[in-house]
Amino acid sequence: MSDAQSYVLRRMRARELIGKHEADERAAAVSDPSRRKRVAKRAVRQDPADVQTNIEFREWADEHLPEVLKAQVLSFLRIIWPDGFTGSNRFRDWTSHPDLRPHHLLYAAGSQLVSHLEVVTTTVSVGGENYVVQSPTAVMTFPAFRGEGWAGRLVAAAVARIDAGQADVGVLTCGPHLVDLYSRAGWEIAPGATILAGEDGSTWVSDDVLLTRSVGPRSAAFKASLREHPMRVADEW
Ligand SMILES: CC(C)(COP(=O)(O)OP(=O)(O)OC[C@H]1O[C@@H](n2cnc3c(N)ncnc32)[C@H](O)[C@@H]1OP(=O)(O)O)[C@@H](O)C(=O)NCCC(=O)NCCS
Repeated sequence: MSDAQSYVLRRMRARELIGKHEADERAAAVSDPSRRKRVAKRAVRQDPADVQTNIEFREWADEHLPEVLKAQVLSFLRIIWPDGFTGSNRFRDWTSHPDLRPHHLLYAAGSQLVSHLEVVTTTVSVGGENYVVQSPTAVMTFPAFRGEGWAGRLVAAAVARIDAGQADVGVLTCGPHLVDLYSRAGWEIAPGATILAGEDGSTWVSDDVLLTRSVGPRSAAFKASLREHPMRVADEW
């Protein structure tokens, strides 16, 4: 018998024994009330369908985001955007830099993260003028939940937060294939806009599409200036 066959047989035998043990316990529980409690407790295994119905919207300032959820966001980021976790950032333990005051909006079933984004606040410069911008970033949905509208709902919640805030304008960057997701929530493409990211001497041109959302009275000036000048940011977020 090969190792694989003997492994399968051992697993089948173990399963049979567990099944028999559980049946014995159930039978014993009928006459013994103390056992009844234990058996009942074990029987409450959560069905995946029930978990799905318990998906709830929650939000946290960065410093209050529960560690179990933060770890899932970080792991997702490390796999999907590995460039942000190289060199001195190899053991990075922040999702967006704390200086950007991330505010997390998410859907979770208990401690299981379904979908997440964070709104960050920073300053960018266009045509020599500085503007305070807010931006949704680290937008993600775990694969099993994609196409169900979770990210779309979070983007709408981010819009409500940004509109109610103090920024001059909302900005975000995304790959061209995701423009629809954001335009549905009211973000507009800034046609031909260029993003220059990086400190002096390490500047690069971002390939992403820039989308904007008018918020404060300086939004119009920002958008007009963006037609003539690149948007300069210290780092991509
Ligand atoms: C993009 C992402 C967050 C979407 O999450 P989601 O919960 O499935 O989003 P929703 O269900 O609300 O919306 C799905 C929409 O996203 C867009 N979309 C998502 N992935 C896409 C892809 N690979 N190509 C084209 N469109 C895509 C579509 O517009 C789709 O619309 P449809 O339902 O009409 O087809 C998710 O696919 C993900 O985590 N991707 C990896 C990380 C990422 O790229 N994040 C975005 C960074 S800007």
